[in-house]
Amino acid sequence: ATTLQSLAAAKGKTVGFALTSSYLNESAYKDIADTEFNLVVAENAMKWSETEPSRNQFTYAAGDAVADYAASSGKQLYGHALVWHQQYPGWVDGISSGTDLLAAMRNHIANVAGHYAGQVVAWDVVNEAFEDNGSRRQSIFQQRIGNSYIEEAFRAARAADPAAKLCINDYSTDAINAKSTAIYNLVQDFKARGVPIDCVGFQAHLILGQVPSDLQANLQRFANLGVDVRITELDVRLPTPADASELATQKSDYQKVFTACANVTRCTGVTVWGITDRYSWVPDVFPGYGAALIWDDNYAKKPAYDGAAAGFGGT
Ligand code: G3I
Repeated sequence: ATTLQSLAAAKGKTVGFALTSSYLNESAYKDIADTEFNLVVAENAMKWSETEPSRNQFTYAAGDAVADYAASSGKQLYGHALVWHQQYPGWVDGISSGTDLLAAMRNHIANVAGHYAGQVVAWDVVNEAFEDNGSRRQSIFQQRIGNSYIEEAFRAARAADPAAKLCINDYSTDAINAKSTAIYNLVQDFKARGVPIDCVGFQAHLILGQVPSDLQANLQRFANLGVDVRITELDVRLPTPADASELATQKSDYQKVFTACANVTRCTGVTVWGITDRYSWVPDVFPGYGAALIWDDNYAKKPAYDGAAAGFGGT
């Protein structure tokens, strides 16, 4: 039967999902995971708070469960995320000097990217480093280390895993706007100075009916710089409960996003940020919104499935 992954593979692309391993105990979840996807990313398990809860004490059990699932199911493994201003452990906040924080960041990357070397195809090395206006986010890394923390992170990741593609990832960068242009300028600068960078992730946490009309053009302008691009965390939220007309719009939104990736040679694929609406992060953060994924609370395929498939050439 046609699946999202068979359509992706026919285009030399991958379709991925964010995995929380405990849900694999549900047969409906596992069946969809096994069947529909050829790439997996840990929803939380490889983040700094999970992998280094105490300084220089590394815990890989949860991340390894994701890696083991990828290996046993024959899927690519995508690493998320080495440096991010959320979900990092409290001890990081206690580091007051830039020199010490840089050492801690390098040590984190050396260990985690080293641990998963040979397993991941790519890493989100730095996540969400920019504000919507294109200025640097004033994270602890930016404040203590300064502008150079991003290139330091990429250099450390290259040293730890020379085979992994190294990506910068962000949200609200799907259109051509101040934030995506800031990342565009960073990629151009890194390329010019020989700082390692291979790919740019576009999270695409979208709102119903608001797929940017210039999404494909935006992906293409990055590809033209000589980096891969990917839709890394797709979901399309709407005011719940969903009615039939909203689900039809959502189908069209999914189709637009998959089509944009299909039309850009250097787009490696699309990752959706979860399988079922039941476990999506959206209602926790945007109360009253949800129903953002491809399968509903009871694991029934929504119209969005056919939209995604159509975008990747299905009928
Ligand atoms: O692990 C604790 C658990 O011990 C505790 O009992 C429970 C009570 O709330 O919380 C659990 O931690 C939660 C964690 O997910 C694991 O389930 C956090 O509260 C919760 O905030 C956290 O949410 C994650 C969020 O990132 C954190 O910012 C979401 O699952 C995850 O989907 C979301 O993913 C992010 C991407 O990494 C980056 N881009 C945006 C995207 C959506 O926010």
